[in-house]
Amino acid sequence: MNLSKQDIIRLLSDEQNQEDLFRKADAVRKQYVGDEVHLRGLIEFSNICRNNCMYCGIRRDNSQLARYRMSENELIETAHRAADMGFKTIVMQSGEDVWFSRERMCRIVEAIKKFDVAITLSVGERDYDDYKAWFDAGADRYLMRIETTDKDLYHRLDPGMSWQHRHECLLALKEIGYELGSGIMVGLPEQSVESIAEDLLYLKEIGVDMAGIGPFIPHPQTPLKDAAGGTLDLARRTMAVMRLIMPDINIPATTAMESLHPMGRIWTLQSGANVVMPNVTEGEYRKLYELYPGKICVDDTPLHCKTCIGAKIMSIGRTIGQGYGGHAGKLPHRAH
Ligand code: 5AD
Ligand code: FES
Repeated sequence: MNLSKQDIIRLLSDEQNQEDLFRKADAVRKQYVGDEVHLRGLIEFSNICRNNCMYCGIRRDNSQLARYRMSENELIETAHRAADMGFKTIVMQSGEDVWFSRERMCRIVEAIKKFDVAITLSVGERDYDDYKAWFDAGADRYLMRIETTDKDLYHRLDPGMSWQHRHECLLALKEIGYELGSGIMVGLPEQSVESIAEDLLYLKEIGVDMAGIGPFIPHPQTPLKDAAGGTLDLARRTMAVMRLIMPDINIPATTAMESLHPMGRIWTLQSGANVVMPNVTEGEYRKLYELYPGKICVDDTPLHCKTCIGAKIMSIGRTIGQGYGGHAGKLPHRAH
């Protein structure tokens, strides 16, 4: 659907009629991507990060956080167990931890590819040749949020980073052939509704295959600890508008939504979303990957989460996707 910036701003601002927007987005979701909800097993494999984003709990300067990094084997074994549980996509996410060199990630991707899963990487900004090597090793998709398209805001919130560079990384990933996931946070300090509208048009412009939208939740061990944070309602309206403007892409019900309300992910699935990424990280690591406070499921096991979210999805009359769940049916590419 073609919505102008003004239309989007109106929809994002209209609290009174948000239920109409949610119903509309739900109908568009049903028409274009059906009732299947695709599950992705999310492995948070290192909380070590070279960056210092003002909003993020695993920022470099958070010295109160115990840091961890899975070994190659631990990561591969975690993925193996997730594949055995039935996940057809494994998402590997970490801070920007360059200990995971080009070669090491290639080895990991090649090993995990043997489990017959689609592989999504989410490890931040890297060289073109890293992205290319990982794709050739068998990685299928890449997630990296642009966070905001307001460049001044971005540079205030992500000191030492460059918006332009991040943008160029996204274009490179797409050019290489990855299915591209990006997205934003909603409710950042001094982020206007107009700016969120521009974010949505940006995601459409670069042609994302997946768009993750979540509320910003202030973390007590960051410089933004006293900020207001985003609301579930605005984040949901943003996600719903995304569904209207890109009707057939994958849109996750993000974990941050549920951190604000126990029904967060379910309501989001009922207002445009079609993907959930249950955490399959094991043991103490879950707690330590604390991007924001109040993260759900930190004391749960992978199996518990898969069963829990599976039951919730079925309770609202939806089904669990049995395929790889690529955008528009795109299949994983095989390693050469
Ligand atoms: N609140 C909500 N989301 C956050 N992220 C990082 N810190 C926070 C926070 N405090 C999001 C960013 C990042 C993704 C992995 O998590 O959008 O890209
Ligand atoms: Fe983790 Fe429900 S999804 S406990």
